[in-house]
Amino acid sequence: MSTIDDMLTLAQTMRARAYAPYSKYPVGAVMKGANGKLYGGCNIENAAYPLGNCAEATAIFAMVADGEHKIVEALIIGPEGALITPCGSCRQRLREFASDDLPIHLAGHTGVNRTVTLGELLPLSFGPGHLGE
Ligand code: THU
Repeated sequence: MSTIDDMLTLAQTMRARAYAPYSKYPVGAVMKGANGKLYGGCNIENAAYPLGNCAEATAIFAMVADGEHKIVEALIIGPEGALITPCGSCRQRLREFASDDLPIHLAGHTGVNRTVTLGELLPLSFGPGHLGE
């Protein structure tokens, strides 16, 4: 059974693996699946700038590639000292695999500083239910 500390440790490892030579803004993200497993991701940039991938997206892709479709908890850590929230696109990516009450832990240099829900970050969202899924 993984704890928030386990999520934080993995997110820090992921952030250290960020490929962000252009922005120099490393991000780490961790998704906990309904299966209890943790999936980590880092941002991966590209010389063709728009092709860059956010850390949250990398973590979600790893989870889906492992066969899990439900996120029950998430944690995001930005560069040392910065408390960041998922970008708009990643809020929608999270929405695909999580419900409004998904806890998203926002971590800074002292650990988890704040926890918000997906519903707070993306109110009145459009999701799979609208397409009858
Ligand atoms: N980035 C993320 O990985 N996640 C976010 O939620 C915000 C931004 C990345 C994208 C880019 O590689 C760098 O941070 C600067 O925008």
